[in-house]
Amino acid sequence: MAPSNPNLPPRSPEDEPWWTRTSIYQVYPRSFADSNGDGIGDLPGVIAHLDHVADLGVDTLWVSPFFSSPQADFGYDVTDYCGVAPEYGTLEDVDALIAGAHQRGLKVMFDLVLNHTSDQHPWFVSSRSGKSGPKADWYIWHDGRSGGRRGRRPPNNWRSAMEVSSTSAWQWSPERQQWYLASFLPFQPDLNWRHPEVREAMFEAVRFWLRRGVDGFRLDIFGSIMKDPRWRDNPLEPSLGGGAIARIWKRKFTENTPDNVQLAKDLRAVCAEFGDPERVLLGEVFGDGATLRGFLGTPHEPGLHLVFLFDFLAYTYSAAFFRDRISEYERDYPAPLQPTYVLENHDRSRLMDRVGGDLDKARVLAVLLCTLRGVPTLYQGQEVGMPNTYLPLRTARDPIARTYFRWVPEVVSKRLAERINRDEVRTPMQWTAAENAGFTQPGVRPWLPLGKHVATRNVATQTGDPTSMLELYRSLLRLRRERPALHRGALQLVPAGEDVVAFTRSTSHDRHPGGDVFVAVNLGRSPVSVRVPMPAAQVLVTSNRAAALAGGTLTLPPDSGAVVG
Ligand code: NOJ
Repeated sequence: MAPSNPNLPPRSPEDEPWWTRTSIYQVYPRSFADSNGDGIGDLPGVIAHLDHVADLGVDTLWVSPFFSSPQADFGYDVTDYCGVAPEYGTLEDVDALIAGAHQRGLKVMFDLVLNHTSDQHPWFVSSRSGKSGPKADWYIWHDGRSGGRRGRRPPNNWRSAMEVSSTSAWQWSPERQQWYLASFLPFQPDLNWRHPEVREAMFEAVRFWLRRGVDGFRLDIFGSIMKDPRWRDNPLEPSLGGGAIARIWKRKFTENTPDNVQLAKDLRAVCAEFGDPERVLLGEVFGDGATLRGFLGTPHEPGLHLVFLFDFLAYTYSAAFFRDRISEYERDYPAPLQPTYVLENHDRSRLMDRVGGDLDKARVLAVLLCTLRGVPTLYQGQEVGMPNTYLPLRTARDPIARTYFRWVPEVVSKRLAERINRDEVRTPMQWTAAENAGFTQPGVRPWLPLGKHVATRNVATQTGDPTSMLELYRSLLRLRRERPALHRGALQLVPAGEDVVAFTRSTSHDRHPGGDVFVAVNLGRSPVSVRVPMPAAQVLVTSNRAAALAGGTLTLPPDSGAVVG
């Protein structure tokens, strides 16, 4: 945020930039819509469904990677940052996607994988071939430690993302006779961002898309990019880690280093070269509250615009849990900063399964997601209540499941709350009740099997049904867009009983105040009555038709929520 100029009138929330009031819809292109009958979703498929995204009422489309890639991690392994994988389309399709989104008033964010490339990227192929070539230092290479079998002991104790299987982040290259660092999977070597040519090449790739008109980026594992230049061992410190990921080693020297925060600021400066409207950076970062907040920098030295807050992916279904988180985020992200709420993405269990298949509970969380102060993010299929679809590990396409978990007995894997086979949350988008759910042509075999409940959990069937999940999201997002209080108003929690999360959203600080709303959700097992702290309010949206307002009191059945104003 630029420092405010004392000669200008004070800024009102109405003046704040677009990203402070946006909402985001994530498209995983491989599974969204297949336009050419090869069983794989593609960019023309996304373009063909832009009306759905616009009608849903979200403001920004985030598209998971479609760049050139051998697809070993389905695009999170890039071989050309400025190219498009042929199965997804062409650069002309990208331009058409941006134009089509902009015509509908949608912003577009792409997904930047800055930490690593594919091991088939020409840069890595060259780097691996020897210690003296032009790309020799573009990746993180190191000799082994002495001791053990000569030269074959990893340089230090850094662990990959698969720490749970105690995997070293170092991979041996017989060709170069050295170790390279791969913080995620072995075929995703980490770039050496301390090399000026790497920085420049990557910043140029960022500019390439900015010039084509993209409005911002989701940044893949952003906190892992800048490692300790002295290669120090991470200290032993078992913890639950950020986002409830169990860890044995504190990632002191491999994650969220001060240099990473500096990189956020440098990248923001690259975006700023493009002027208004602002191009936006949304970071996938993990860590405690202060660490995440740190990535946003300061008013004088801004970093990322937004960071995902993943707590809602690992929630406890209790009002106390949500009240605590909301209070914490209100404290840490005062306007114009915004918390970024996530209930689903392409890596983690779908919401429907987290709530044990209970549609009422999922609807309650939809009300919260769309009415809290902050940026709600939705993942394709969430709007129709798509569940996880159990798929046996032995059939997995997901490299994590294939590489590390194939040995896990199915009876165990079936029962885990978190999915270790990410295919289960990436089944094709369900558009219709017809064969192949409208994802691809009849008779074609989609790249992953279809999900469960296609007959009811699809866009066509739910459209126009006022009781459907889709129409609930549409009403909530429409209201969020119409009501300034919901997209830019202040949030004040209101005490309303142990099982209730209640708050007001108010524009009283705007130049043009008015239209305040009150939101209450009942996460308990008994009905509750909640006093509405505003006169002459009416019910605007409810998650359950039995929720009623009479004489200034809102009656909420168990697992229900209402927005009044
Ligand atoms: C996080 C992404 O969300 C995930 O899908 C990917 O596999 C890893 N980063 C590696 O890029």
